[in-house]
Amino acid sequence: MGKYIIRGGRRISGTITVDGAKNAVLPILAAIPLCDGKFVVRNCPDISDTHITIEILKSLCYEINFDKKTLTAVRTKDSTGCVPDTLVDKMRSSIIFMGSLLASGGFVEIGYPGGCELGKRPIDIHLAAFRKMGAKITEREKTVICEAKKLKGCDITLDFPSVGATENIMLAAVRAEGTTTIKNAAREPEIRDLAEFLNKMGANVSGAGESEIKICGVKKLCGAEHTVLSDRIVAGTFLAAAAMTGGEITLQNVIPSDLNPICASLAQSGCIIKGDANSVTLHAPERLSAIDIITEPHPGFPTDMQAQMCAMLSVADGFSVIDERIFSARNKHIPELIKMGADIKMWGNGTVSTIRGVDSLHGAEVSARDLRGGAALIMAAIAAKGESIVKNSEYVERGYSKIEEMFRSLGADIDYQQ
Ligand code: EPU
Repeated sequence: MGKYIIRGGRRISGTITVDGAKNAVLPILAAIPLCDGKFVVRNCPDISDTHITIEILKSLCYEINFDKKTLTAVRTKDSTGCVPDTLVDKMRSSIIFMGSLLASGGFVEIGYPGGCELGKRPIDIHLAAFRKMGAKITEREKTVICEAKKLKGCDITLDFPSVGATENIMLAAVRAEGTTTIKNAAREPEIRDLAEFLNKMGANVSGAGESEIKICGVKKLCGAEHTVLSDRIVAGTFLAAAAMTGGEITLQNVIPSDLNPICASLAQSGCIIKGDANSVTLHAPERLSAIDIITEPHPGFPTDMQAQMCAMLSVADGFSVIDERIFSARNKHIPELIKMGADIKMWGNGTVSTIRGVDSLHGAEVSARDLRGGAALIMAAIAAKGESIVKNSEYVERGYSKIEEMFRSLGADIDYQQ
């Protein structure tokens, strides 16, 4: 297990280029088994979740080459449709392979992902949709088996705009017989990117990014080339780190409108933000102001930025309230921030927190318990006075490529130790 050693008290300032989005590349790679052909996916982030996804593709008989953020994939022989349990255990989002394997081979057996570090994460919405499309679902103790000779297009209204369920249905529906309409679909930018990739493969998907998506099933798909959308959460993390340390930062290779929910909150806390076609610049104020945040599906404030904002607001002037409404256990960073001198109280079942901003944090030995919480602790340690150790780097490595090098290039004093 790696750790970050951080000597705090430095400003985060400078210019960086943001990599491709974890949450876009995973469903895009999961679309590959939909057909034969050669795939070239550019701007793939070099993070551990990408590497696990590559292992899954290899287990499904793909030959993969991943170099300098470009991935190529070609199938060498037919696969069984079984995703190894060891890989499902490593990455919950491997269930995103269900839709494409079901659509292409008519059969998928995959370990039931169960809960994870963010709380209970059922897949009932995914399974209900597959059932409606004509799949037979057998839920065993540890695995789920989905079978369908031919999936049938239909109208599906989601109880909640689940990102993963929307993507899984899209992946299944592109090869189904007839038209599928997803109502109350997730509207995250990564859904739009998946639709663009599928359409390059010859699919017929419209409305992605809006709450009603229409997918007309096609008989044939083919290989495709695509450049992955940039990561709005990585972007937001660096913006919040600059804001927290009184810095100035420019992010290149971003889509400013995808960052609107994050930038609106940063602006409310006193930052000056300017965007042009593909970059965003933030100037931090002398002291940040407290703000309230409620996490919601896009275009609301993203849950994946909640922990980083919590770290940032721990040094803002006044009381902030954060209400986490997407996941039930996404506040594991709070006891760690408290070790660094933050004044935060959790309410109810731990999803609401009130933060009284302190003048400064101090260094401490803390542990990441999930991906975004880990990034939040690194930010806090960079802003804090003195030395901190942030343990369990493997959580952070799931979604940030060499975060220590990125922060170092922006002025932080941070080392990584295995
Ligand atoms: N939910 C259900 N039943 C389902 C599916 C979801 O009850 O069948 C619930 C979940 O338990 C959760 C809520 O709905 O409470 C949202 O889940 P969603 O399905 O939207 O999330 P996901 O697809 O599992 C993706 C991202 C997450 C991100 C969420 C929300 C990927 C690979 N993961 O997860 O990313 O937090 O959407 O935006 O795209 C992260 O990057 O740190 C991360 C956790």
